[in-house]
Amino acid sequence: MVCSQQCNKKRSANVHHLPQVCHIPQVALLRLSCCTLTLSHSTSRCAPGLSVIVRKSCSNTVCFQLLTSLSEMSVRKDSVELGVTNLGFRDADGDASDTISEAESVEKQESVGVKMDPEEKYNQMKPYAGMPKEVLLLYSSQARYRVPREVLFWLMVCVTLALVAVTITVIALSPRCLSWWQASPVYQVYPRSFKDSDGDGVGDLKGIMEKLDHFQYLNIKSVWISPFYRSPMKDFGYDVEDFRDIDPLFGTMQDFEELLAAMHDRGLKLIMDFIPNHTSDRHRWFNLSRIRDPHYDDYYVWVDCDPNGPKPNNWVSIFGNSSWTYDEVRGQCYLHQFLKEQPDLNFRNPNVFQEIIDIIHFWLKKGVDGFRMDAVKHILEAAHLRDEPQVDPNKPPLVTTEWDLHSDYTTSQVGLHDLLREFRAVLDTYSREPSKYRFMVTESYDYDEVEKTMMYYSTHLVRESDFPFNFYLLDLPHNASGVWAKHLVHIWMGNMPRGEWPNWVVGNHDRHRIGSSAGPAYVRVINMLLLTLPGTPTTYYGEEIGMENINVTQSEIQDPAGKYNTSASRDPERSPMQWNGDMNAGFNNKTNITWLPVHPDYETVNVEVQMKDSGSVLSQYRFLSNLRESELALHRGWFCYIHADANVFSYLRELDGLNRAYLMVLNFGKESAITDLSSIPELPDQLMVLLSTNQVNDGKVYQKSQIQTEAGEGLVIQYSTSRRYNPNHPEECYVSEKACYLPTINILYKC
Ligand code: GLC
Ligand code: MG
Repeated sequence: MVCSQQCNKKRSANVHHLPQVCHIPQVALLRLSCCTLTLSHSTSRCAPGLSVIVRKSCSNTVCFQLLTSLSEMSVRKDSVELGVTNLGFRDADGDASDTISEAESVEKQESVGVKMDPEEKYNQMKPYAGMPKEVLLLYSSQARYRVPREVLFWLMVCVTLALVAVTITVIALSPRCLSWWQASPVYQVYPRSFKDSDGDGVGDLKGIMEKLDHFQYLNIKSVWISPFYRSPMKDFGYDVEDFRDIDPLFGTMQDFEELLAAMHDRGLKLIMDFIPNHTSDRHRWFNLSRIRDPHYDDYYVWVDCDPNGPKPNNWVSIFGNSSWTYDEVRGQCYLHQFLKEQPDLNFRNPNVFQEIIDIIHFWLKKGVDGFRMDAVKHILEAAHLRDEPQVDPNKPPLVTTEWDLHSDYTTSQVGLHDLLREFRAVLDTYSREPSKYRFMVTESYDYDEVEKTMMYYSTHLVRESDFPFNFYLLDLPHNASGVWAKHLVHIWMGNMPRGEWPNWVVGNHDRHRIGSSAGPAYVRVINMLLLTLPGTPTTYYGEEIGMENINVTQSEIQDPAGKYNTSASRDPERSPMQWNGDMNAGFNNKTNITWLPVHPDYETVNVEVQMKDSGSVLSQYRFLSNLRESELALHRGWFCYIHADANVFSYLRELDGLNRAYLMVLNFGKESAITDLSSIPELPDQLMVLLSTNQVNDGKVYQKSQIQTEAGEGLVIQYSTSRRYNPNHPEECYVSEKACYLPTINILYKC
């Protein structure tokens, strides 16, 4: 065996400090890498034992080659011990060992083989920790190490591949998780009326902070707060003077930040009201625009007009009369689709658009969770300013209300959705973490033009609002019947783009309380409808306890809309929240002032009293809100029409794979009714009431041919079945996103 000359040269610099006679094991350990392990003709001589061949071929250079039989190896223990315990190394400073003697004795030979005693078996070599790679390699290729290693390796590969496959399959098969805005009702707080912390008679942000427990009690996770921006309050906050400030009536920016943080701590989401269509006439932009500051010159819609002459066209304000007002400072008319103190912004000016975008950023950076976009259909007007067609062309042309005109040029103009989609895009840039999803709901009353409302929904290709508010159930009291209820529900369900998420509003700060318009006897059944339909329910503060409108005398009117037209006043539905039977219903307990009178029924209709009564409107609301969250069939299952007549509207909720399903039998009529559902084989013969709006009927069992309800009574019937209704009645059923339940492993999957 010959070590190459090249190798010797390479090593010479490194080994000159070694003792003249290298100690074999030490050298072997340190120098194996010196020479390429070349099994040459002498290999056979070395095998099967370990041979260390020492050769001084060049002056003062030593090269070592370690040859080893991979299958068997023996080392004479007293001469060579590899590893940490290294006797040879201990002796290296002159205390010659056998090994050295042996090496010296054969020094003159061309090569010296240090033979290991073949009898001393491999077990003398211990795989100590810290063992160098070279030695480990001696062991590693032995079958008893190699085989398990290879088995483990391939096992790992298989397990990893299987895990990747399972992950991909699970992702592909999992239905989308519901987002926070789908998971619970949205609760609307009208801040003036919710809770007054400082006794000035007007509710405020600190007041809301005091009442966060109430939301949690009701299992509400999203709270929409009507505007609290700095405002002259001509339209109670919908006339914004500064979009980046809090009105002192409601508190400070610090109060807002504390409220938001406290809500987030409790897992509550805060939805702000956002008013892109107009500002207050006290807004800095308007002041600069009316003095024709070049930058702000056309921030609003200005038109030449004669102060005493006709208006630029026949357009009317939502609050009545012309939507044009002459401004003496500028000497022109400006457009206002609401109050004259609410001039419309000119969105055809890109600077206005940018200002609004910047304000959206401002609040998103503060951490708000979403926006309710106010009065969106009014954002753009036709630039040509032509008269709108009259609904009744035979009427004299002096129209004063929005109902007299087809609002073809003042609402829903081309370009509107592009603007909203730009707003949405900003929200989306803040939505990247799933728990930080920013929500957008649009407000647009389109009445019988529901297809216009549906345009606000996002599609698969373009993102817009998560849903536009569905106001159709506000009309429920107009014609209390089961058929009417079904009709209103179907306006939405029959027109909503496929796969979208429905929502339902039964009250807000612009419409009379449903308990008043439908009557107190119907409050519970309406809440039952709201909380058992598919999609997100919206609850206006006080609806959960069945608050009713207050009577507001002419002199008490606060609402500007009511000042134009008493019957249009929105004050009745804005009275202080009834928390308890104390002074001012607990709305404020410091002074006797409240900005609107408290409803006289507050001693019996209040949160505190109803919390103690398991059959109260509040307790039933809470029960249904919890049920909606806990029952898959209710929050993401199929919705199927079952029956509608003059009194009763009945529908069911079920989920494929889940045997527990729900049947709702709701009597919106004026009479008691017996509903016969015996023609529906998917329903069991006997049906037990889980919850009745009339508590005495809880737990009652009805034959399905004879389900009894009183006027205003609603039943939630929970039943068990292995037969689904939806497969046989696809035209009667709807689901936002189909999912099936796998009971054996308790999961949902796409099906
Ligand atoms: C929306 C609000 C309403 C307000 C109007 C003008 O419709 O809900 O209260 O008066 O916009 O901002
Ligand atoms: Mg206050």
